Amino acid sequence: MQSKLLENKTALITGGTRGIGYAIAGTFLREGARVAILGTSADKAIAAAMKLAQEASVSIDQVTGFGVDVKDTTAVANTIESVVALFGGKLDILVNNAGITRDNLVMRLDEQEWDAVIDTNLKGVFNCIRSAIRPMIRARSGRIINISSVVGLIGNPGQANYAAAKAGVLGLTKTIARELASRNILVNAIAPGFVDTDMTAVLDEEYRQKLTEQIPLKRIASPQEIAEVALFLAGPGASYLTGQCISVDGGMHM
Ligand SMILES: NC(=O)c1ccc[n+]([C@@H]2O[C@H](COP(=O)([O-])OP(=O)(O)OC[C@H]3O[C@@H](n4cnc5c(N)ncnc54)[C@H](OP(=O)(O)O)[C@@H]3O)[C@@H](O)[C@H]2O)c1
Repeated sequence: MQSKLLENKTALITGGTRGIGYAIAGTFLREGARVAILGTSADKAIAAAMKLAQEASVSIDQVTGFGVDVKDTTAVANTIESVVALFGGKLDILVNNAGITRDNLVMRLDEQEWDAVIDTNLKGVFNCIRSAIRPMIRARSGRIINISSVVGLIGNPGQANYAAAKAGVLGLTKTIARELASRNILVNAIAPGFVDTDMTAVLDEEYRQKLTEQIPLKRIASPQEIAEVALFLAGPGASYLTGQCISVDGGMHM
């Protein structure tokens, strides 16, 4: 039998209840990892974990769901401590995927919309990294994968808060990659283009069509197409790769 890419690895995936994070969790489970997913509510996260176990045909012990708001520094620290304890004191892979949008043109963008997106999409990443690196530093090994966006690379009208947060994630990725390289902790980002999830389901049909025309591959990505790149970054094939951002956007940003 062919060996699995993430056998004996443990992974924590934020925003694993739906969309891209859910696809990453399923992919990691099928490749043998033990997985913890975080979402905003414990009930939803536990339900998603049970569904993931069933779909990946793995034991229910292989995947656990936790409810925590990534904005909440103390709650994140406590939750990650529980996850690491559950995993026997180690954490091999962290995927920072939880994210939201609150779109508005800058003229109309209010402080709550700005803060909500920066706090979730940027500070949330910092909160998770700060707690997750402790066991990685102890083990002298780890992978961190941050989900940025094509919007963080090229901007997008109506998404100043989101673009700023996602560009911030890239700066954070490169800095942490430099800080932790000597401990063999590899830190990379993925910048997806437009992906078929609840986040993009709110876009009206006309806008979706216009958008699709601008994508060289002329279609929106499936969450699985992002998950495959996350698997590569988490796996043995990416052992000499750190501080990079991989665009998975059908050619939008070249
Ligand atoms: N979809 C796209 O086109 C696209 C493109 C580029 C980048 N991205 C990025 O990819 C990531 C995933 O996007 P998606 O499309 O899969 O989104 P989604 O379907 O809307 O799912 C978002 C996930 O994040 C979780 N989440 C949101 N706020 C949270 C918080 N404060 N604390 C903890 N968890 C929180 C949600 O948990 P609940 O289920 O509990 O709400 C959910 O699991 C995001 O960072 C997004 O910015 C998406």
